[in-house]
Amino acid sequence: MCGLIGIVHKDDNVCEKIYDGLEYLQYRGYDSCGIAVIQDDDFQINKQTGSVSNLKKNYSNGKIGIGHTRWATHGCISIKNTHPFVYENLAIVHNGIIENYSEIKDRYADYEWKTGSDTEVILKLAYEYLEEYKNLQKDDNDKSDSLSVLEWDYAFNKLCENLEGSFAVAFLDLNHSDKVFFIRKGLSPLSIAVSDEFAAIASDCLALSELSDHVIDINNGQYGYIQNGKYEIKPGNINKKRHIIKSPKISEKSHDTWFEHEFDTQPMVLSNALHKLNNTFTWPSLKPNLIDIIGCGSAYLAGNVGKYWIEKYAKILCRINMSSEWQNIEGYSKTIALISQSGETADTLSVLDRIQNKEVSTIGFVNTLGSTLSRSVNHIIPTFVGQEVSVASTKAMTGQMLSLFLWANKLAGIDRQNELLDVFAKMSNIIDLLPEYSKEVIDVCSNVHDLFILAKGNLVPIAYEGALKIKELAYVHAEAFSASELKHGPLAMINQDASQAIVFLAPSSSHLWKKMLSSVEEVQSRGGKVIIISDQPEKFKNIHYSIKMPYIDEDLAPFLYVLPMQWLAYKLAVRKGNSIDMPRNLAKSVTVE
Ligand code: F6R
Repeated sequence: MCGLIGIVHKDDNVCEKIYDGLEYLQYRGYDSCGIAVIQDDDFQINKQTGSVSNLKKNYSNGKIGIGHTRWATHGCISIKNTHPFVYENLAIVHNGIIENYSEIKDRYADYEWKTGSDTEVILKLAYEYLEEYKNLQKDDNDKSDSLSVLEWDYAFNKLCENLEGSFAVAFLDLNHSDKVFFIRKGLSPLSIAVSDEFAAIASDCLALSELSDHVIDINNGQYGYIQNGKYEIKPGNINKKRHIIKSPKISEKSHDTWFEHEFDTQPMVLSNALHKLNNTFTWPSLKPNLIDIIGCGSAYLAGNVGKYWIEKYAKILCRINMSSEWQNIEGYSKTIALISQSGETADTLSVLDRIQNKEVSTIGFVNTLGSTLSRSVNHIIPTFVGQEVSVASTKAMTGQMLSLFLWANKLAGIDRQNELLDVFAKMSNIIDLLPEYSKEVIDVCSNVHDLFILAKGNLVPIAYEGALKIKELAYVHAEAFSASELKHGPLAMINQDASQAIVFLAPSSSHLWKKMLSSVEEVQSRGGKVIIISDQPEKFKNIHYSIKMPYIDEDLAPFLYVLPMQWLAYKLAVRKGNSIDMPRNLAKSVTVE
């Protein structure tokens, strides 16, 4: 994960420019952050734990620098493990993972490693290879030239040979204090922007969008340097400049947190997305026999709901998989739908790597246009919900469901769009009523250690989404099951213990409604504390806690029933005083596998 940036500028305020870029990159991690600039032939370092705004406390001037925002993989969250790291004449920032770092550390048994980070091995090896090159040159009739950067070519080739994993790295070198050196191997993206006044490199082109409208993407295996007004990229072809697709400026949030703002505005955002999908977008004309649907986290769960619609309406079999678990069965998968809000999720991008040179049609359900995924697939189906700031997804997930629902309609040659307007109105209504309708349920749930969320049919993925959101925001143990699976094992967990509660998502329109009535009784007869979320909670006997929902057609129920799940997670997190928009240990986009 992590985000990096390096800038060489004619002006003396490079720190502020790096800071602006890091604010964009913070979606890749916010455990800690740092900036190194070269000033008077030495490094000036500013490192802070927590979010990028903490760097504001301490700016140094300079014309060249590198910056980093960290999501801890190797080594705890501390200043010691915060990039940039410095060794002799070098400073480094790194994004990605060095898989063989511990073998390399063992190789230098006498060396005193100063951090717990895998990045330190890149720094040490780079230094060693640069020295090795100089020594080779000396042996070879002393041809060394202190202004040459050939030593870096040598070091980069050796780093590629010896480091396993995916990584993007930027270096400052006091021996070449006008250049930022870089290398990319594997899935970690890097883009360059350049003009007469500056040159800059970053993990995401958006971090360069205040400096430039265009970038050049660095390919896997390429390395080089940037210098004011110029760059060098080797080996192989240099990509053409491409336009940066900037996200439309997001309006100010109307609530204290982005989560609440994004939760609240879902009906309006979805209705705008529907309008755009109908009026500004041409749907790909595909006739697949089998579709592989792939994604991670909430995107994967939206895919599960999409599978239900596509199979029911279009009668096309869908296989659904988490990106990291997906295996291409040779000759079997011909159409792959990859779902991703950010379009930068490494697990999802790695699927594209695994099908390279295969005859497969790829469709990206992407929110961030211009992202790596959107540039790599054969067809894009946008979700058009605008930038999502809160780490915990709300509108991006419901937006993914909307695009999948419409695609299922297109594949089936049917049109159930008119019903969506009624759905959005009901979403609005329940968002208004939840604060009042859910008070008691939130009180009950705030006092338990284990929450079980049960549903049937197309609401099973919504139960999973609820459990995911509660873990993510409230840090409370929550687990989802199909209510039909209860008797096959999980029922053993249910007892009169006051520290557990069992939530049922139970719309009366479900063809499994009667079976749901029985499942609830099975739990009640074991003493379980039951909470019903339903349009007809009164139909369940001896229920003390419920949230009343509007009636909704079974097929469209996921749009409505996801809302009390999102709300419950949010309110439990607020009660615990948790950070809402940036939950601990997470990042908006998971850029390592
Ligand atoms: C949960 C959440 C994550 C993401 C997942 C995939 O609230 O946001 O589970 O859904 O990391 O991210 P994208 O959609 O960017 O590929």
